[in-house]
This record gives sequence, structure tokens and C-alpha cells, in this order.
Amino acid sequence: MWTYSNPVNIIFGEKKINQIHKIIDKKKYILITSDFIYREYLTDIVNSINPPKLIYNKIKPNPDYVDLISLMDFFSKINFYDIDFILAIGGGSVMDSAKVIAAFKNNKKLLTDFVKKNKPPIINETVDLITIPTTSGSSSELTCWATIWDKESSKKFSLSHSKLYPNTAIIDPTLLINKPRKLTISTGLDALSHSMESIWNINANPISSYHAIKGARLVLENLPKLANDLNNLELRTNLALACVHAGLAFSNTKTAISHNISYPITLEYGIQHGIACSFSLPYIMRSMKGINKIAEQRLEKIFNNNLDVSSVFLLEKLRSLDVPLNLNELKITKQKWDQIISESFEGERGKNFLGNKNAFNKACEEMNVF
Ligand SMILES: [Fe+2]
Repeated sequence: MWTYSNPVNIIFGEKKINQIHKIIDKKKYILITSDFIYREYLTDIVNSINPPKLIYNKIKPNPDYVDLISLMDFFSKINFYDIDFILAIGGGSVMDSAKVIAAFKNNKKLLTDFVKKNKPPIINETVDLITIPTTSGSSSELTCWATIWDKESSKKFSLSHSKLYPNTAIIDPTLLINKPRKLTISTGLDALSHSMESIWNINANPISSYHAIKGARLVLENLPKLANDLNNLELRTNLALACVHAGLAFSNTKTAISHNISYPITLEYGIQHGIACSFSLPYIMRSMKGINKIAEQRLEKIFNNNLDVSSVFLLEKLRSLDVPLNLNELKITKQKWDQIISESFEGERGKNFLGNKNAFNKACEEMNVF
């Protein structure tokens, strides 16, 4: 018995950014973006016949509690009941920040209660979201959650509600051209992680796994080529499609153990999200040997091989993309690693994982993580 659902309208293709003119026509909206994206792509929108009520263009990577409070202050004069939608143009951090505003509007107390007082988030009426991703990785345009960081307490929170699915995602591969190599690799590996995480997941179903296999294969086939040919539109389009498949997969399963391992590594060691969650994939995959037949078969469909061979293949692929793969390269002590792993298996995402800690530790041993 399983169910599958994803309500986001997807508009996909080259130059589909132009559809935004129809969407914003005569509507009242605010725009959330990052400075780079604002300069690069938005001049025509801002100068169009229907500019946004207000533009925030300073979103930083990994939205932190303090930054989100500033964002709410910026929108303090907006009456959100008078706004048709929030337009979010940017990467995962921009879209996640927009979801926080869609959920809490400019009510700082609701955010503070959630992050600082551990109260369950109160989400009643939300503001509609229109998203235009400018990286291929987070798939935030297809999910109903946002990651919020609190660097002060070294914690990460997930704001999740079915009303936070965006109404529409416009995915235009031409917006992805000119992204730097490091960002391209990190975001692409985030999409690979989402795909694989939705397979070794207690919430997996045939539809989510179909998308996961498609997404993972597209990343593995296209990302290594794209890393050396950054302006190749066909490869960018394939990565954008990979990201759609990954989003359709993990929007229904959530993530699992590799994401839980990644959070302290990003928070405390500053390693980009996509790198921090992908380095452990080969070890996790090997640890799935003999654990769950269906998951094993689905993983074999990605690599056309058994998990022993596939885990080494993936390790080599990641190495070719400059991913740090052992404690020495990650600059993490064994003691700290043991603590991260214990806590990761205890956390909510860790409990989504079909495998177990003993098998994972054994795989790490066999594959020279230490
Ligand atoms: Fe992720």
C-alpha cells in the first residue's frame, strides 16, 4: 500500500522564463532573490508594466535565523493578505527563505517560537509561491519544506507543511548557464543524493523510485561532462531534468541518513551541502547489501551492477569531481566522526533509512573511510 502526490505545476524548457510576464500580469506580488540573480536576469521584470510591490535581493546561502528575521523586518510594511504570491528566483536558499515568508509572513514571533523555543510551527494561511530555480540541485521548487539554520546554537530545522508546495515552478535551463564549476558540482551532487536517499528510504514507493533511478542516472551521465563544459546547454538541460526527477522522488519520501550526516559537517566544517551529503553515498550504498532486496534492485538499476562494484564506481566518480572522501580529506577526527554517526542514526532523517549503523560502519571500514 502506498500513495504518491506532488501538486506543483512544472513549466520546463529553454526561454520559459518569458512565461513570467503572463504570470505576473496585473498581479500583486513581492520578489525574493539573491543579488547576483537580481542584476543578471531581472531588469526586464522590474521595468515591466507590473513591477513587484517590494524586492528583497540579498539572500545568502544556507538561510540563518538572523537573516530570516532581517527578511521579515524588510517586509514588515507588507500586508500579506493583499499579496497574490511570492516570486522566488534563485537557488535553494532563496526558495527556502521564500517558504519561511509564505508560512510566517512577517510574524517574527512564529519563527522565534519555532527555532528558539522548539515549538511546533503554526502555519495557517500561506502565501502562494511561484519559483524559478537558477541552480539544479535542491529541488526546493518541488518540495513542501524549507531548511532553516541556527548557527548560534549549531542546529538545523526543517519547516514542513503541505501548503508550502509552490504553486508553479518555471525551470529554464538557459538560466543555469555561467554557473561556476564548484557550485555546479555541489548542486548536481545534491540532486544525486536526493535520488539515492529516496531509494534506501522507509517511505519509498514504485513512483518515487522510478523518478529516483531516472534522476540518479541523469546526474551520473551528465554531471562529470558538465563539470568540464559549463556552458553546454544540452548538459545543463539534462541536469535540470535530473533535478526534476530527484524532486519528484524525494518530495514523497524525504531524505535519509546521508543528509543527517551532512548537517553538522556543513555547520561546523563549512562544507557545501551537496558535497557534505554526497561523500557518504558510496559507503551507504555498500551497507545496503543484503538489507532490503527491493532497494538493492533499484540501486542496481542505476549502476547496472551489484552494490560492491557500484560503490567503488561511485567513489571514483566522486573523486573525479574533487569530493573529499575520507576523514583525513574532510579534516574530521575519528572521535568527532563517531559522534556525528551516532547522532545521525538517531535523528528523524536517520530513521527514514532502511539500513543500519553496524552495516554502515562495516562498509566504511571496508572502503577506507578512516
Ligand atoms: Fe539536499
